[in-house]
Amino acid sequence: MTTDIDALRDELLAEVAGAADIAGLEAIRIATLGKKGRITAQMKGLGQRPPEERREAGASLNQVKDLLAEAIEARRLSLHEAELAARLASEGIDVTLPIRQQPQGRIHPVSQVLDEIAAIFADMGFTIAEGPDIEDDFHNFTALNIPPEHPARQMQDTFYLPPRDDGMPMVLRTHTSPVQIRTMRNSPPPHRIVIPGRTYRSDSDQTHTPMFHQVEGLVIGRDIHMGHLKGTLEAFCQAFFEVDNVRMRFRPSYFPFTEPSAEVDIGCSYQDGALRIGEGDGWLEILGCGMVNPRVLEACGVDPGEWQGFAWGMGIDRIAMLKYGIPDLRAFFDCDLRWLHHYGFVPLDVPTLSGGLSR
Ligand code: DAH
Repeated sequence: MTTDIDALRDELLAEVAGAADIAGLEAIRIATLGKKGRITAQMKGLGQRPPEERREAGASLNQVKDLLAEAIEARRLSLHEAELAARLASEGIDVTLPIRQQPQGRIHPVSQVLDEIAAIFADMGFTIAEGPDIEDDFHNFTALNIPPEHPARQMQDTFYLPPRDDGMPMVLRTHTSPVQIRTMRNSPPPHRIVIPGRTYRSDSDQTHTPMFHQVEGLVIGRDIHMGHLKGTLEAFCQAFFEVDNVRMRFRPSYFPFTEPSAEVDIGCSYQDGALRIGEGDGWLEILGCGMVNPRVLEACGVDPGEWQGFAWGMGIDRIAMLKYGIPDLRAFFDCDLRWLHHYGFVPLDVPTLSGGLSR
């Protein structure tokens, strides 16, 4: 009899010792000490034994029961410790590992240049204004002193859209200048804004795409003059091209919405096949500008006797090509990942004036 119990004890102790995890151990506990467990069954069976065996068997069974309960508790502790140690090991961080590789994605040069422009003008106290790509004839032309039949309308290779319900002709905006009108009609002067955005003209070759980007600027105040215009654009060019001195030339020109008007060239030279911005005897045209035509102010309900100011407009894609030495504009919009990887910028290097624009 005792040998039966001894055998059962050894078998159960071996099972406890072999339990692989806490859940397995719990299953063993239920199968031995639980209500329908093997030890419990033996206890219940004591009554059927002859009286002379009962005492001894009862005592042995109680011993085995205590022994098992102890063994299970000891095993539970050691399994718990092992599980904790394994978790600590797997969740440990090795701070001596090399840092993660640079992210694969790249910022498109146009987005980069937009961010650079925003950083430079924000520093000069400008805010950013935006307007719709689908524009009406009034904002894109008429209010900018380009009346119907004006030859300047032909200069711009406009994409026309079906007219609005009220008969107003609609276009894809040919420049960002209509946002000057929207800004001045929406809020009273003074104004100091830059207007980045997409623009559209029916034109396509190595330096023209049907969709391109411009940034417009507008400053309106009581005593704003052309000196402010020059100073602003000079400060911009120095910051943008990241050179101490940029030679600039203001050439008389004509735009219906400015009077007087100028086109701005910056000095450049070619050295060993590479374009250098700032110095040299070559010139590159980068933008159009001028003093806002009083007729434009009038179209916006601004009194030209009291307010005046300057404006400029510049092609973003073009200055991106110049600054980053990108030869073909069409590749900007090809979505070729190899091109983007070559000319693009690392996402976490956000351009700031203090940290450096393009690094
Ligand atoms: N809107 C003109 C263009 O697309 C550029 C321009 C020239 C804008 C002179 C201006 C300006 O604000 O004053 O060619």
